[in-house]
Amino acid sequence: MPGPMRQSDAPRTYRVKSFGCQMNVYDGERMAELLAEKGMSPAPEGEEADLVVLNTCHIREKAAEKVYSDIGRLVKKGEEAGRKPMIAVAGCVAQAEGEEIMARAPAVGMVVGPQAYHRLPEMIDSAASGKRATDTDMPADAKFAALPSRRKVGPSAFLTVQEGCDKFCTYCVVPYTRGAEISRPFSDLLREAEKLVESGAREITLLGQNVNAWSGEDEAGRPVGLEGLARALAKLPDLKRIRYTTSHPNDMTEGLIAAHGEEPKLMPYLHLPVQSGSDRVLKAMNRSHTAESYLRLLERFRAVRPDIALSGDFIVGFPGETDAEFEETLKLVDEVRYAQAFSFKYSPRPGTPAAGMDNQIPREVMDERLQRLQASLNRDQLAFNQASIGKTCEVLVERKGKLPGQWLGKSPWLQSVFFEGEAAIGDMVTVELAEAGPNSIRGRLLQLAEA
Ligand code: 5AD
Ligand code: SF4
Repeated sequence: MPGPMRQSDAPRTYRVKSFGCQMNVYDGERMAELLAEKGMSPAPEGEEADLVVLNTCHIREKAAEKVYSDIGRLVKKGEEAGRKPMIAVAGCVAQAEGEEIMARAPAVGMVVGPQAYHRLPEMIDSAASGKRATDTDMPADAKFAALPSRRKVGPSAFLTVQEGCDKFCTYCVVPYTRGAEISRPFSDLLREAEKLVESGAREITLLGQNVNAWSGEDEAGRPVGLEGLARALAKLPDLKRIRYTTSHPNDMTEGLIAAHGEEPKLMPYLHLPVQSGSDRVLKAMNRSHTAESYLRLLERFRAVRPDIALSGDFIVGFPGETDAEFEETLKLVDEVRYAQAFSFKYSPRPGTPAAGMDNQIPREVMDERLQRLQASLNRDQLAFNQASIGKTCEVLVERKGKLPGQWLGKSPWLQSVFFEGEAAIGDMVTVELAEAGPNSIRGRLLQLAEA
């Protein structure tokens, strides 16, 4: 028999579950750091936590329903154990549907948006004393200043440099959930990067919804773009690699393209979503670029860095997309030969213009288009991996592999590489790429690269 229900009045253990994009992963890590600073500890593997933070994603599909079913599962598990976990809903579903969640799910003690999670500690105290709390304010820059400094990090770390989006693509909720574009100040980022490197990071991925729209002023007060930030970070001796994601074609600058040809620490990989190969669809999406202007941009990257691995995002079945327009997407894919890509069925998001458009595409049509697109993208991904065979490159070791003595890391082109031999997490090793699969590459360890 379970004992009487107990509200974990002062939660001692926590678990943060992040869904969706890398920015949510970053936010999830920072929330965990806040909770640790509050004296809480992560719930041991396999044990229920006193506080569960659902760090949600609202970009596609039935995001809100998923949150309610996760809440239901947590409540049920709690009942079986005779306790009531404290539940916080964070992230983009919290921002978009916070009030509704509070009304529909009494088990939720807190709703906190992506720009307000620095207030979690006070909200926990308030929830523990029986007062449910919601905070979905969007102050421009209060959050980062209020966060504690970074704890121990892995060899590959994320750093949010820019948040929000002013582009208003007609299918997308981001401008509503993450708010207007803001860039974090140069000096704050330099300081955070130094801390990450001191704590063991060898690679930093700069994150932003429109990361290449980042702008700031360097230490001398000169205006700089993302390439200026990357060049400044490259001066940190123990930082070996710099990546950034996600970029928008319209924010791309000459400076960033040039940096790819000049700064060896800037990795040869570019994630540049195009969404569709049809100019009519791109216009209806409010993308403000064409298939042709996108292709020309990629050519310029290839001119300065011929080995650059290209990646993109695609949506199939945007309202009104015809068969012929979809074929234009396949044509663009054939032309680019992506090393990696992400493709999605269009999902109407509440409150976005496209959700109210005529000619919504039937599910079966979207399924068929997605399958065809993914067949092309998978073909190209395998071909890219196969074309790497025989190359010698550096791999940053991120974790142990499944087999004893096996290690896993990433090539400069963001391929997962596994190999056997003497190594440790955080090492930069020289590996010959020996055998290609669709999602990973077997490497042969040649030597430990210089420290
Ligand atoms: N439906 C399907 N895919 C979407 N994306 C964004 N909004 C939607 C939507 N409503 C995709 C885009 C974007 C990626 C992060 O998610 O391809 O680049
Ligand atoms: Fe969404 Fe478009 Fe902004 Fe990307 S650029 S976050 S797809 S609105």
